[in-house]
Amino acid sequence: MSLPRPAPLLLAVETSCDDTACAVLDGDGCVLASVVSSQLAAHQPYGGVVPEIASREHLRNWPATSANALAAAGVGVGEIDAVAATRGPGLVGSLLVGLSLGKALAYALDRPFYAVHHLEGHLFSPFLRRNGEPAVPIPEHFVGLVVSGGHTALFGVEHGVATQLAATRDDAMGEAFDKVGKRLGLPFPAGPVVDQLADTADTVDTGSTGNTVGTVANGRYRFKTARCGTALDFSYSGLKTQTLRALERLEQAGGDLDFSAGRRGSDEALEVLAAFRASAVAQLVDRLERLRRVRRFDCLAVSGGVAANRLLRRRLGEWAARRGVDLALVPLEYSGDNAAMIAHAALLRHRRGLADDPRSIDAESRLPLG
Ligand code: KG4
Ligand code: ZN
Repeated sequence: MSLPRPAPLLLAVETSCDDTACAVLDGDGCVLASVVSSQLAAHQPYGGVVPEIASREHLRNWPATSANALAAAGVGVGEIDAVAATRGPGLVGSLLVGLSLGKALAYALDRPFYAVHHLEGHLFSPFLRRNGEPAVPIPEHFVGLVVSGGHTALFGVEHGVATQLAATRDDAMGEAFDKVGKRLGLPFPAGPVVDQLADTADTVDTGSTGNTVGTVANGRYRFKTARCGTALDFSYSGLKTQTLRALERLEQAGGDLDFSAGRRGSDEALEVLAAFRASAVAQLVDRLERLRRVRRFDCLAVSGGVAANRLLRRRLGEWAARRGVDLALVPLEYSGDNAAMIAHAALLRHRRGLADDPRSIDAESRLPLG
């Protein structure tokens, strides 16, 4: 007979965009199950996420996704002590499906309900552990960097309360990766493949120095890093445009930009990608340097889909070691959208006594955090 799990046993739903996710977490923050059902195949023919299709797919996927999560956790739905769901931000039709399911479940089971901000989920996800191990305690003070397809933002977190310090003024970092990848014929989301291709470029790794702005790849391609004056804010649209222009020029000069279906275009295109990635990551390091000049912090927690980026993980690791900052990088399996991070944020709310009334919560496509 297995030992009872530490209470509360939480079930979370996350449907803010195109992934249908359900997770079960125990009171120690151990992830008992985290199931993410991807809708990519349904959106593939359109080259991006189609909101109406996303809502319909969430409804279609939910029964199997939740059944799989409960089965993997080895618990029956009646054993769940609390329910959580993402309230926003995201696609409103997608949010509505998951939030309604979560609210209905909490109401029907007569259990507490936690409405979670999507970014709050990402923000605390670096403290989750894999293989059913308990989550590590959240530091009283830390800086959170969330880098995803929809967000690039810095937060100061004090005793579990987040304040936004900076955000992107235009594109998110992941969005820039996706748009650059699209130009090479890569399917959405192109970020992971752009990252892999950049790794194969024959470039001179200039390493990371104190001067992180204007990193050069192979000396041939150099992209300016957006400065945004002295602000902490991010900007990725200029870098995206510079990169697309460089690719355009390359194509006009006879370079092969076709990387679709496993094809390998020209080596120069790979160099462009490597320079793009280096500059994108350099901007993050630059903003962390700026922040350090005005705010002391000992811990940096990095999360979001783009936190899987290999150069980002390397450069931030080097930067943190140089500056004596503890680096908490989200485990790869929780970097993209998932429900374990939503359950975890709900557990932290539960510990602070912050439950919500399911009858008075609505989905919010735009919802600031902090
Ligand atoms: O957090 P996430 O799953 O969804 C949002 O909330 O946006 O992040 C998805 C984003 C996509 O833009 C995807 O291309 C990007 O993360 N991404 C990457 C990598 N892995 C995922 N971007 C760059 N390098 C990667 N290795
Ligand atoms: Zn996300």
